[in-house]
Amino acid sequence: MTYLETAAKFYSEVAQTPQIGLCCVQSTPLQLPGLIVPQKMKEMNYGCGTTVHPTELADQPTVLYVGVGGGLEALQFAYFSRRVGGVIAVDPVAAMRASAKANLEMAVIENSWFDTSFVEIKEGDAFNLPVADASVDVVAQNCLFNIFESEDLTRALREAFRVLKPGGRLQMSDPIATRPIPEHLQRDERLRAMCLSGALTYDEYVSHIIDAGFGQVEIRARRPYRLLDTHNYNLSENLLLESLDSVSFKVPIPEDGACVFTGKTAIYAGAEEYFDDNNGHILQAGVPFAICDKTANNLSKLSNDLIITNSTWHYTGGGCC
Ligand SMILES: C[S@@+](CC[C@H](N)C(=O)[O-])C[C@H]1O[C@@H](n2cnc3c(N)ncnc32)[C@H](O)[C@@H]1O
Repeated sequence: MTYLETAAKFYSEVAQTPQIGLCCVQSTPLQLPGLIVPQKMKEMNYGCGTTVHPTELADQPTVLYVGVGGGLEALQFAYFSRRVGGVIAVDPVAAMRASAKANLEMAVIENSWFDTSFVEIKEGDAFNLPVADASVDVVAQNCLFNIFESEDLTRALREAFRVLKPGGRLQMSDPIATRPIPEHLQRDERLRAMCLSGALTYDEYVSHIIDAGFGQVEIRARRPYRLLDTHNYNLSENLLLESLDSVSFKVPIPEDGACVFTGKTAIYAGAEEYFDDNNGHILQAGVPFAICDKTANNLSKLSNDLIITNSTWHYTGGGCC
């Protein structure tokens, strides 16, 4: 059996017998006015953060959701798209598709605005998405890509890139590791399927996204997820996993490299009214200016009068490359 088959078997089990708290982090679940999430769907929250960013879902986008789980985020996206086929949800596991379908049918009873036709559930997998090139506005996946081995992650990211329209967004939430996960844990297929041992480090994860062609990456949240401790995981030191929410844009990669926004700002603290780096960045004295990490690095070398603030790991737009 391959590790992907082990994962499919595992998700078939947890589709039939929900495993509460399998992946999710302790955070307040997204609450939306007029949206009632069925109890079973809540119990099947197998995500590790959120991929639904309410302030960016105007204009009824077409969303391709990869790895439907119990259908929670597909329902949340449908809340914004509100039209037939606005959300296409893909999963290779028949039992998971059946559970999501049943949960969405339950959602109809409690949500007068919702119709099951808003979410089209399709058989398929992350490596072979059943939609045409450049056909969707958003691709989302929550706590799935981390289970893929490096080459498969690259394939899945390229496939997401293929189906996105130019300017489209890949919205992801995944565990990342604060240091490389040792081989003996990476090889444990069940732990990998449980989103506990396939995670890459932050740098590796972001590099994979850029290598697939995404020119801009924004980090929306980063927080503790799970501890792989010395007692249970045969480790000499504890290893913290974090969950990372990100949005990556299908825009060309600039010649000097992709823009990765992690919440840094530059503040000009000099005597003049403003600072101009002659490269498109004009900083008014005393006013924080959101910048990507590449620009932060470049500016830090230019002047002692520039203060670069730390990554907040919570960037929501408005910056300049
Ligand atoms: C950790 S669960 C996450 C479910 C959902 N995203 C959520 O947030 O609750 C992973 C999901 O991916 C599905 N899956 C497993 N292998 C997959 C693959 N190769 N391609 C697409 N989905 C897959 C599983 O059946 C399961 O529904």
